Amino acid sequence: MSVQRHILEDAEAAAEACANYVLGVLEEALAARSQATIALSGGSTPKLLFGHLAAANFKWAGVHVFWVDERPVPPDDDRSNYKLAAETLIGPAGIPRQQVHRIRAELHPAAAAEMYVDEIRTFFKLLPNELPRFDVIHRGMGADAHTASLFPAQPLIGDREKIAAPVQVEKLQQWRITLLPGVLLAAYHTAVLVAGDDKAPAVQSVFEEPYDPKKYPAQLGLRDGKEVEWFLDEGAAKLLPR
Ligand code: 6PG
Repeated sequence: MSVQRHILEDAEAAAEACANYVLGVLEEALAARSQATIALSGGSTPKLLFGHLAAANFKWAGVHVFWVDERPVPPDDDRSNYKLAAETLIGPAGIPRQQVHRIRAELHPAAAAEMYVDEIRTFFKLLPNELPRFDVIHRGMGADAHTASLFPAQPLIGDREKIAAPVQVEKLQQWRITLLPGVLLAAYHTAVLVAGDDKAPAVQSVFEEPYDPKKYPAQLGLRDGKEVEWFLDEGAAKLLPR
C-alpha cells in the first residue's frame, strides 16, 4: 500500500482531482459488486469536492453514503456535515434516501453514536468484533492537524477496536460523533483533501515530524501501510520540500 501526495494549483483543482480519484474507486468497487461505500467528512473544503462529484456523469445506484463525523446539531443546521452533503451532493446527484446513512446528531451524543454504530453493523453485516471496511473514506484536516473529529490529545486516537464514539472537543466546547481510528485505517482507500495556506504548517508537521497521531491525528494512515491519497492545493503544500 502507498501514500501519494498530489499537489494542485488551487483548491478547485485539488477538489476535482480528489473527486476523480473517489469516483474511480467507487467505479472499481461497483464493477466487482452491487454496492460500494463511502464515508464523507464535513467542514468547508468538501463543498468543492461534493460539487465535482455531483456534476460527474456517474451512476450512484448502489453507492451507500456514510459520514466520518458530525456536529451535535440537527440535519437542517448550517453547521451540519449532513446538510452540506445533502445540498451539494446527495440532492444534486439524486442519491436515494435508502442509500444515505446519516448520523442522528440531533440526539444525545451517546445515543447518536450508538444508533450509528448499530446501523453500520447492520449494513456491513459485521461479526461482533469486526470493523467495517469502507471502499473509500474522504477525510479533511484542520489547521491543528485534526482529522475526522479526532483532535490532538484525544485518548480515542489510540483505539483500534471501536467503530464510532461521541468525543468531547475541548477547544470547541462541543461534542462530536466520529468514526474511530480502527475504521479509518481499515478503509480500502482514503482520500485526504486539504486546501488553504492556513493548513500549511499542519501539513508540514504531518509529513515531516515523527509519527505521532496523538499529536498529529491526520498522520493516521501515513505510516500504517495503507493506501492514502492526499490532494493538496499549493497553499496547503507550500512548506513541503519540493
Ligand atoms: C468537521 C470535519 C473535519 C474537517 C476539518 C477541516 O466536521 O469539521 O469532518 O475533520 O475535515 O475540520 O475542515 P475545513 O475543510 O472547514 O477546513
